[in-house]
Amino acid sequence: MSHGWADQLMNDHETTEKVFAAVALALDAPAGPPPGLLQDALAYFEGYVGACHHLKEEHHLFPLVERRGVPKHGGPLAVMLGEHDESRLVLPRLSALIHRYTRGEREVLDELRATFAHYSTLLKDHFWKENDILFPLARRVLTEADGDAVMAGIEATESAIGPDTRATFYALAERVINAGGVEDLSFGVERDVLAAILNTLPVELSFVDKDDCVRYFSHENGHKIFPRTRGAIGMAVQNCHPEKSVHIVNRILADFKAGRRAVAEFWIEMGDTMAHIRYFAVKNPAGEYLGTLEVVQDIAPIRALTGQRRILSEA
Ligand SMILES: [Fe+2]
Ligand SMILES: [Fe+2]
Repeated sequence: MSHGWADQLMNDHETTEKVFAAVALALDAPAGPPPGLLQDALAYFEGYVGACHHLKEEHHLFPLVERRGVPKHGGPLAVMLGEHDESRLVLPRLSALIHRYTRGEREVLDELRATFAHYSTLLKDHFWKENDILFPLARRVLTEADGDAVMAGIEATESAIGPDTRATFYALAERVINAGGVEDLSFGVERDVLAAILNTLPVELSFVDKDDCVRYFSHENGHKIFPRTRGAIGMAVQNCHPEKSVHIVNRILADFKAGRRAVAEFWIEMGDTMAHIRYFAVKNPAGEYLGTLEVVQDIAPIRALTGQRRILSEA
């Protein structure tokens, strides 16, 4: 069944939450937030969140959910609509404060921080409710044709605003996110904690950028199925593979760049190890190719599992 609409709307939520994180960081900066970042963020909140995202739900998703038996009053739909309305009441206040701050009235900063906290907390909580409660409910009650109708409605709402609306606003969001210091806000952890998390994953990761250059690998100091040294960073990926397989690597990369496929998968028996190797095309929210992620895992212990061990049997 087609639930592309949920992916689209949840992408909007995720992008918006990253903008919130970037603005929150900027508002806490000792030198005060750069006015340009606040103006870009405001343009995104007004032009996309308020005037596009909420409308896609109000005009196309909620009415169909209601038609499939979920009452508009007294249930989750009423809560969602109420929160959209509240966010629309807060936004003009936020807008006025941002305009005053960019005109040089630095004394409004405390009120600006409090108003932004109100707006962003309200919507973060709202997105969570939609992602975890309303959308799963909608997935259950909507038919396949309903899902297609919501998708068509999303596209119609976006094109009524202008061509490439989503890509344009996602690019604006990206500008805010980058200006706010993106490396520290992906998951609310510092860069070294993020590195430790990646090194704790039971899979080995390598990343080559859009120009086929190796930029990252995990587990530098631990055991690896395919050992790598720091010298690989900066090398062309073609130089890291045996010559007889380079043409296959090149074909996969060309397919990823052209969007012909997004995953390539191999598995190799190496003694007791069953190396499962997957390549994933990595794209930004606008769908642009950023590079390729290699994920390597020894799946022999997983393949050997039988029966079950449930968490309750551990008690
Ligand atoms: Fe919503
Ligand atoms: Fe939403």
